[in-house]
Amino acid sequence: MAEVKSGLEGIVVAQQDICFIDGEKGELIYRGYHIDELAPHASYEEVVYLLWYGKLPNRKELEAFNDQLVARRALERDHLRLIESIPTTARPMSVCRTGVSQIGLYDPERLVFDREVTLVKAADILAKMPTIMAAFDRYRRGLKPIPPRDDLGHAANFLWMLTGHEPSPEAVDALDMYLVLLAEHGFNASTFACRVTAATWAGIYSAVVSGIGTLSGHAHGGAVQEAMNQFLEIGSVDNVEPWFRGCLDSKRRIMGIGHRVYKALDPRAPHLRAKVETLAGHSEHRKWFDIALRLEELTAAHPYFQERKLFPNVDYYSAPLLYMLGLETDMFTPMFAISRIAGWSAHIMAQYADNRLIRPRGEYVGPKGLKWMPIEER
Ligand SMILES: CC(C)(COP(=O)(O)OP(=O)(O)OC[C@H]1O[C@@H](n2cnc3c(N)ncnc32)[C@H](O)[C@@H]1OP(=O)(O)O)[C@@H](O)C(=O)NCCC(=O)NCCS
Repeated sequence: MAEVKSGLEGIVVAQQDICFIDGEKGELIYRGYHIDELAPHASYEEVVYLLWYGKLPNRKELEAFNDQLVARRALERDHLRLIESIPTTARPMSVCRTGVSQIGLYDPERLVFDREVTLVKAADILAKMPTIMAAFDRYRRGLKPIPPRDDLGHAANFLWMLTGHEPSPEAVDALDMYLVLLAEHGFNASTFACRVTAATWAGIYSAVVSGIGTLSGHAHGGAVQEAMNQFLEIGSVDNVEPWFRGCLDSKRRIMGIGHRVYKALDPRAPHLRAKVETLAGHSEHRKWFDIALRLEELTAAHPYFQERKLFPNVDYYSAPLLYMLGLETDMFTPMFAISRIAGWSAHIMAQYADNRLIRPRGEYVGPKGLKWMPIEER
């Protein structure tokens, strides 16, 4: 009998220098920089550069990189028309998948794998994903898309395209930090899916679409929307305890809690928790922070969660953060994709640079030697 590693847990399939995670200690490092270094200081654009080029950009490099992204934000008129032809009832995560696929339709160099060419394609996808999602979200609300602005950073421009209002510095800061924290996470399921697709020498668009599809499930990126739905269902701080007891009785999983790799607090969660608290201030949004905090306290004090080492993951506080920024809950997972495109692209480029088809095996445990039976005798 072959040893089966359910869920490929603990299997190392490649060496990589993009991201280090210590699940026991709760450590996350991008290209040598601890997330605690990056979260308070780096812009999303700097982190993307770091992940793609392996070093932090100097001022000149950053300006050139920003210019490249800004120049690629706008969509072709035909592409916008395609988005407007999508049913308004479509799930935004499906729109994200289709939108990236559509970007590929406009690329004349579809199957070129050189790093320089792939970097341009990656920049194009990264720059256009927020435009696609903001356009669709406005379109489904009966509003006209707002063109990107070239004087705003990645986070600020997204909020502008979504709302048409000048975003507050606090909102921009919160979204920028969210994008930094979600940008990369090693061989998680969606990144692995990107690499599996890239390893067949499929193009970057196909690889990213694989990643988006894989991210959508609630065991992965879909959890952030579910986490907000559960906070909305709880509704008030007074209801947290009865709701929590109900979960324990019915063995219902709490969304935003638990992680395959982290057996300690996810290192991204404290940064997000602090940002949510700042963003909430004393506004009417304060209750979402209070509910999340109370539920975290209850899980931390309960033996079920202690024994299984279940702590809040990145999605737990991402949910109230995105909610407070005014996003519809079904836009939360596309926001995850809008950030993670940075890490996906870094891994796709690494896969192309040192490629071997990824092809595991499953152990066959079914019958053998069966004899053909004519259809009348079955
Ligand atoms: C993330 C997740 C899929 C990891 O799964 P995994 O590594 O395969 O862990 P398992 O599903 O084997 O869970 C291990 C144990 O913890 C329990 N558990 C895991 N997550 C739990 C949660 N969120 N709430 C309650 N119990 C949970 C399981 O029931 C299981 O208990 P058991 O040993 O008594 O059967 C899982 O923790 C989960 O479903 N979390 C909620 C969804 C979520 O937040 N996903 C985003 C991840 S970033």
